[in-house]
Amino acid sequence: MKIIELEETDSTNDYCKQLKDDCNVAVVAKLQKRGKGTKGRSFVSDDGGLYISFLRRFENFPAENAFEIMINYCVAVCKTLESFGVKPQIRWANDVLVNGKKICGTLIENTFKDNCITRSIVGIGINVNNVLPEELKDIATTLCEQTEKNIATEEVRDRLIKFAEESYSVEDYKSYIDYFGREVILKTPQGETRAIALDVEPDGRLAVIDGNGVLKKISSAEVGLRL
Ligand code: BTN
Repeated sequence: MKIIELEETDSTNDYCKQLKDDCNVAVVAKLQKRGKGTKGRSFVSDDGGLYISFLRRFENFPAENAFEIMINYCVAVCKTLESFGVKPQIRWANDVLVNGKKICGTLIENTFKDNCITRSIVGIGINVNNVLPEELKDIATTLCEQTEKNIATEEVRDRLIKFAEESYSVEDYKSYIDYFGREVILKTPQGETRAIALDVEPDGRLAVIDGNGVLKKISSAEVGLRL
């Protein structure tokens, strides 16, 4: 895999979009000036964190299997964090928490043609040694805080790249979830509702029992989760 290292950029995901010929690249930046989060939000990307985007191209990769891409990178992040001695948990669909606080977010931007994914840009931001803004300190954490060690972002990058080359299953993904059978809060554009989380389907939808006792399978595009 080719690795492109940048001092800074607006967003490593956007940098990948202007790479025309490369097909297996990781773009890493020391900081991002306009880091992007999911659902149109921004992602704080100060010096000391790992900001990396993987650019992949596919032939005949069915769009309905998009979740497989996400599973692979989420599990790779968890294995990377475990290798530093912390215990990660996936907050469906693709946040990774340690001790209840977010340590990593993932933004996947896919390009489609004829119901197939032709290009996938998987952008991963891991808090390593970056100093979190005051307003995030209650909900986010860093690898440095969790291990009480200063860990080089390059070491995290190298381990992540290595783990991302392996293949993982939905069962591997679910092994990082401990809230099945428990109450969670679903955050929808209409507001928040309580539900019991049951399972993650092979297509990535979260199966829940809603407040009326009805089984629902929800997609992460519509709904976020609070544990
Ligand atoms: C989220 O938690 O909302 C997703 C955050 C994704 C952040 C990463 S950092 C590398 C890549 N470049 C971006 O602009 N975003 C992703």
